[in-house]
Amino acid sequence: MIKSLRGMNDILSEDYERFTYFINLATEVAQNYGFHFIETPLLEETALFKRSVGESSDIVGKEMYQFIDKGENDVCLRPEGTAGVVRAFVQKKLDKAGGTHRFFYHGSMFRYERPQKGRLRQFHQFGVESFGVDSVYEDATMIMMVADILKKCGIGYRLQLNSLGDQNCMPQYRDSLVTYIESVEDEICEDCKRRKTTNPIRVLDCKNTHCQNLYENAPKLINSLCNTCKDDFTKLKQILDDNNVSYEIDTNLVRGLDYYSKTAFEFVSDNIGSQSAIAGGGRYDRLVEFLDGRPTPAVGFAMGIERLMELIVMPETKRNGYYFGAMDKDSVDLIVKLTQEKRLTQKVFCDYKAKNLKKHLNAADKVNVRYCCIIGENEKKDATIWVKDLEAKSENIIPLQDF
Ligand code: HAM
Repeated sequence: MIKSLRGMNDILSEDYERFTYFINLATEVAQNYGFHFIETPLLEETALFKRSVGESSDIVGKEMYQFIDKGENDVCLRPEGTAGVVRAFVQKKLDKAGGTHRFFYHGSMFRYERPQKGRLRQFHQFGVESFGVDSVYEDATMIMMVADILKKCGIGYRLQLNSLGDQNCMPQYRDSLVTYIESVEDEICEDCKRRKTTNPIRVLDCKNTHCQNLYENAPKLINSLCNTCKDDFTKLKQILDDNNVSYEIDTNLVRGLDYYSKTAFEFVSDNIGSQSAIAGGGRYDRLVEFLDGRPTPAVGFAMGIERLMELIVMPETKRNGYYFGAMDKDSVDLIVKLTQEKRLTQKVFCDYKAKNLKKHLNAADKVNVRYCCIIGENEKKDATIWVKDLEAKSENIIPLQDF
């Protein structure tokens, strides 16, 4: 039997209901915040992700579904959504147009990671990207938007916050961190040795506990911020405080993608095991420029839909729609006709096989409809239909002309 690839799941039945429930809810929130839908291709030039997510990141270094297509182009399945949206923003010359542009998207992302609970190779994100707003109020708004979506889904969370500085303070901090790493270099893992030269701040979120202990005394970026970054970070915390969004400062939160500056944040859940990040994002003021656009401030986030589906509290589904069934073969044509009429305005299920009443009632119950409508020999003769309201638990025989 051919099976789906490792880390790639089908979404159907109850899962699909959760999936669409989340997309609809998040879409409504994004639209209330003034965001517009954008769809970008699943396949992009590999160079797009090398330049944006960064060659030193695990995503680009180890996890890309990359291949040469029939036209000899080096392409890959998108591992995340931001780079494609920025490419589209520049390609459509919105950077030159100026003003504010806010987008939301949802769709499949692909990362060749080691699959485990909550970690897939094809997974879905809901994300938003905001361009042209050079204000920390926009960062706070992004965070509050995630908090709103999570609250509407009945999901509890912890918000972790950090500032990654900008081109004024980050290089200086990086130098002091490299000096520190060199002082413990004999003891750190091979990955950290590599990170020291490719992107030193990534050592701070090394998962190796021995490394983590060693970095406890490393200089903290939060103490090295320049005045602008420090003021922005203080303001961000104040806005969140004013709006009752609680957070923890995590000075080791560096995110797995290289394009961030200043605000970085992650929402985590304590109820889904080790893959606990349910959303992540931050500011990326230099990415538009890196992708050949006019310098444009930008900030955004993405949420992992599969992880959220584990946590969503679904509203109780009310019975709705109709079920049509016939008790004898000769009545099947009639119920098909009634089904087609009713389908113009209602959700309708129809069973084409003649069955006894009990079997029809069970089937109607299974598909959670409100009305079970049956025609048997008597009903056919009298031009009536037997209708049971499965919610009110009442039953009636109704003339077809009134039905
Ligand atoms: P990210 O933190 O790499 O950020 O991914 C966002 C979310 O996607 C994670 O918090 C997690 O819930 C989910 N996720 C990531 N990898 C997997 C996986 N292998 N299996 C299941 N879920 C996963 C980004 O992708 C950035 N583009 C976010 C962003 C938008 N920053 C600014 N704008």
